[in-house]
Amino acid sequence: MTSLTTCADSEGASERAAREIVRRLESARAERGAAHLALSGGGTPARTYELLTEQLASWEQIDVWFADERCVEPDDEESNYLLARQTLLDRASGLEPGRVHRMQGELGPEQGAERYAGELREHAMIEDELAVLDVIVLGIGPDGHIASLFPGAAALDAQAPELCLGVHDSPKPPPERITLTLPVLRAARRCVLLATGTSKADAVDAMLAEPSRHTPASLLRRGRLSVIVDDAASPEPPKER
Ligand code: 6PG
Repeated sequence: MTSLTTCADSEGASERAAREIVRRLESARAERGAAHLALSGGGTPARTYELLTEQLASWEQIDVWFADERCVEPDDEESNYLLARQTLLDRASGLEPGRVHRMQGELGPEQGAERYAGELREHAMIEDELAVLDVIVLGIGPDGHIASLFPGAAALDAQAPELCLGVHDSPKPPPERITLTLPVLRAARRCVLLATGTSKADAVDAMLAEPSRHTPASLLRRGRLSVIVDDAASPEPPKER
């Protein structure tokens, strides 16, 4: 079953998400000697990333991946890598540079996706032709998109062994992106989806309803999904606190 946790505000949701991610990374590292974490971009997870570096004492044996990237230079203000660098990568104690796997957005959608698929095949755990990551951090758009998988997009039809895709028509600028495929998101041991603010309430509601291509988040694997929201984004009436 999907777990839904509602917190009073975005700081509380960020703290709750960070705690769950740390717990799962430590458990994966203890069990398999390594843990693989994928990060999304956008504004919502930035605070969670900062808290992760405060809550996880050592980042040894942790590999950092990306769920999607814009096709820009890594120092462009639109870059998800830049966001991760500023909030997590430059602060994470013991994180080995060779374990940071940047999506090379500057190569463009197709070449960047092909390159990243190779990186996943070389360094991630592969089961049944798919990369199996331990934790994927996701945001959600007001339209229910996740990573760079948008409503009704042909990209939603990708099957194993496709791991990464190029996107040319993202309705969320910039238009050109690289994204993990839905099968890779569904193969992850856990997806932690964070949503805050009233603009996300309808998307969260739709995500928890019947699976539909109109709401890509609703196609995530429900039994491996943690949804963490604040009151403003919650589909449930606010609790008395
Ligand atoms: C991206 C993100 C994207 C994001 C959502 C929510 O590259 O834009 O990966 O999927 O998670 O659009 O964005 P906000 O957190 O900024 O609302």
